Amino acid sequence: MQFTRKDFPEDFLFGVATSSYQIEGHAFGGAGRTHWDDFAATPGNVVRAENGDRACDHYHRYEADLDLVKAAGLDAYRFSTSWARVLPEGRGAVNQAGLDFYDRLTDAMLERGIKPCATLYHWELPSALADLGGWRNRDVAHWFGEFTEVLMKRIGDRMHSVAPINEPWCVAWLSHFMGLQAPGIRDIRATARAMHHVLLAHGRAIEVMRGFGMTNLGGVFNMEWATPADDTEDARHATELYDGIYNRWFTGGVFKGEYPQIVLDGLEPHMPANWQDDFGLITQKLDWCGLNYYTRKVIAPSKGPWPSLQEVEGPLPKTFMDWEIYPQGLSQFLTRLATEYTGDLPLYVTENGMAAPDPLVAGGVDDQDRIAYLDDHLAEVRKAIAGGAPVKGYFAWSLLDNYEWSLGYEKRFGLVHVDFDTLERTPKASYHALARALTE
Ligand code: FCB
Repeated sequence: MQFTRKDFPEDFLFGVATSSYQIEGHAFGGAGRTHWDDFAATPGNVVRAENGDRACDHYHRYEADLDLVKAAGLDAYRFSTSWARVLPEGRGAVNQAGLDFYDRLTDAMLERGIKPCATLYHWELPSALADLGGWRNRDVAHWFGEFTEVLMKRIGDRMHSVAPINEPWCVAWLSHFMGLQAPGIRDIRATARAMHHVLLAHGRAIEVMRGFGMTNLGGVFNMEWATPADDTEDARHATELYDGIYNRWFTGGVFKGEYPQIVLDGLEPHMPANWQDDFGLITQKLDWCGLNYYTRKVIAPSKGPWPSLQEVEGPLPKTFMDWEIYPQGLSQFLTRLATEYTGDLPLYVTENGMAAPDPLVAGGVDDQDRIAYLDDHLAEVRKAIAGGAPVKGYFAWSLLDNYEWSLGYEKRFGLVHVDFDTLERTPKASYHALARALTE
């Protein structure tokens, strides 16, 4: 790596991120069924129909995995908690084994001097709640509040930070408009409702945690820098709309109490009644804002119906996800967030990383491409800080190779290689490089 800790402010946190369904092994410990199990069981949705039943078996191997976090010299671990592991039916009866697991996991972090940074929801909605309409049903905010209460009563006293929901855009748009993630719906009414209810649930969870006297609460948003395919007015408009849907809707709701008009132009007829009255709950004061950043998109107009836009292939080098590598977008977003949305609020890069084939060769993985990716993005973080953005930490995605949702286990994002037959962990060159940068 081309940096050491000295190149960052003294209180800057370095961490890694994971999520429950992607690593724990959902078949273990009495967890309830989730809409991801249903989505994966639906023919054609997921590569090789893979699911999270076993994943990395982190449920049993968490101690060894946290040893890896510690040995890399990392300060913090961003993990997520599975709703259905705690409340198998989404509400009502508690699975004590699930609460016990997150309790053990928390203590195992603290024993190692690692700061626990929780995300309450990283996409695995209990199937029983999906049956009731899931994110389409306004009651989801209330159900999510109950889950937050049950879980935080048990571990809330030991969290360094908490965010309610990972990536509202994926929860709402990707899953209800594009249909590419669970529940795999393509429905404009469902989309408009999910776009709003996801923020309502966010606000409700913040309210519950404030009620417990908890501090250091935030939100985690994913963003893709949008670049027009050419300099026509149509391409500019398509790009602005893409930016509105992806990057401005959710931060607009949470930090300004408003949605971008360019998006409402299409969604307003499908919004739930009296949505304007909910911003009191949605705009609960936060203590920090998290940004998940991976790539940019090149946007062109399309002849189809609203939103009448399409992604076109860009010229930049791509990762194994086929995502263009565009580090500049990271400093651009951090600066834009601070100037337009969050002001002095601490910003964190809560996810950033790349997928590669990463074959094990002679007992190791020489992922120089990942080292360069992380280096280039961390250089952009320094640039944003130098320009005045209050960036306080960076979490690499991910600690381990894991279940990459509809793409199954093939897309490897880990700093640590996982053999999905033996479950053996092998730190890659990027893990060692990061560890050297942080500890030397
Ligand atoms: C993010 C998700 C994470 C992982 C990475 C590659 O959108 O939060 O679970 O899939 O992308």
